[in-house]
Amino acid sequence: MAEPATGDGRILRAVNLFYEENPFPGFDPNKYRTREDLDRQASWWAHKLDAEIPFDADVLDAGCGTGQLACFLGLKGRRVMGVDYSQHSLDLAATVRDRLHLDTVHFQRENLLELSLPDRSFDYVFCNGVLHHTSDPYGGFKDLVRITRPGGFVIIGLYNKFGRLMLHVRRRVVRLQMKFDKNARDKALEKQLVKLEDDSEKRRTWWADQYEHPHESVHTVDETLDWFRRNGVKYVSSFPKAELFSSSEVEKIFRPRRSNRLFSSRAAHLLVQLAWIVTQNGGGGYYVMVGQRTE
Ligand SMILES: C[S@@+](CC[C@H](N)C(=O)[O-])C[C@H]1O[C@@H](n2cnc3c(N)ncnc32)[C@H](O)[C@@H]1O
Repeated sequence: MAEPATGDGRILRAVNLFYEENPFPGFDPNKYRTREDLDRQASWWAHKLDAEIPFDADVLDAGCGTGQLACFLGLKGRRVMGVDYSQHSLDLAATVRDRLHLDTVHFQRENLLELSLPDRSFDYVFCNGVLHHTSDPYGGFKDLVRITRPGGFVIIGLYNKFGRLMLHVRRRVVRLQMKFDKNARDKALEKQLVKLEDDSEKRRTWWADQYEHPHESVHTVDETLDWFRRNGVKYVSSFPKAELFSSSEVEKIFRPRRSNRLFSSRAAHLLVQLAWIVTQNGGGGYYVMVGQRTE
């Protein structure tokens, strides 16, 4: 695949080199020997998606990394396509797919900023933790909307400008601690919200992803809502909740959230995101916005 010769190509190359060395979320392939293994190790979020997405849906995981989500969603026969620019990640994904005979799951090498996929071809388009590692997050988003069917959903996971603040501080502190304490790295990893268990490969790639990444950008709730508005996408929900005074109960992912206008205003979003400085710091300030294409 030809790489862009522009300055933007430098980011693509640096990020790609990084993921060829640190496929994400790396895993020990021996842990995925059966379909039950895949089911057991899927996150609560993946299980929630599985409960809400119809089995006959066309699903895209854009920037699928090592493909666990794509394979998991394919367990019940959904047609799932996973695309990524890292060949190493795609090879790992295909190993699990082939071993478990997931015939409706396909992987393909693609640059998210130059997708070759046809217009209006997917009902659910996921892009988890990818756009903020590209040179043009908004351009990438627009293309994801292009390939979503009207009525279909676009699900975008990004680093939040506020929620990620503490990680920037922690990076400096941990680097300093590492000079004196050989366990400083492990202690920092324990503070992540994700379960890293005893999978050393998963721990290694998480560390690299959070502490050694060559390129990342940060975004806000209203910036994402603006992307939605400009591209005929209706806001459905967000995780964590972006609305002020919302209940802590986890609601359905694809059911439009009702909220008082005041509690979902820009000012309300700002207050909520300020709280994320503390509450989302363990997860690196990651937030997910769900939208539905209307036209
Ligand atoms: C943090 S990982 C996320 C993987 C997966 N979505 C997840 O949530 O576990 C970011 C992924 O984006 C991919 N990526 C980064 N830039 C890309 C681009 N321009 N085109 C396609 N994939 C890209 C990387 O190769 C990597 O696998």
